[in-house]
Amino acid sequence: MKLIIINGPNLNLLGKREPEVYGSTTFEAYFSKLEKRFPEVELIYFQSNIEGELISKIQEVGFDMDGIILNAAAYTHTSVGIGDAVKSIETPVVEVHISNTHKREDFRHISYIAGAAKGVVLGFGLQSYDLAIQSFVDG
Ligand code: DQA
Repeated sequence: MKLIIINGPNLNLLGKREPEVYGSTTFEAYFSKLEKRFPEVELIYFQSNIEGELISKIQEVGFDMDGIILNAAAYTHTSVGIGDAVKSIETPVVEVHISNTHKREDFRHISYIAGAAKGVVLGFGLQSYDLAIQSFVDG
């Protein structure tokens, strides 16, 4: 099984960015743990701060991978383009957030992705990614 984690803007700063909200682990350190936890999965990781690069990556992988785990970060709440990209592909997408966006500011309650996603996992810290991967493994 081939899965890709696509992370959006500012998630490259995990570990030092607002640690009270997002924790103090870097995504690179967490990703090595994920690779060990799911040895049966071919896991790929992509991060970009640029909306168009995220759209291009979704298009590129969206017809041949088994699943996309997408944390579009702030673009979740603003990007019709990323929402449309998710609607345009065949590969199922699970939307992920580290924080519980529904407990936070009102603008974070809107998602342009959720309506086109297979499911949404949010609020479990980095474990949200584990749960999304597990959902693909369990089918
Ligand atoms: C986030 C939540 C978003 O509202 C925020 O803009 C992020 C991270 C999360 O994983 O909790 O950058 O997607």
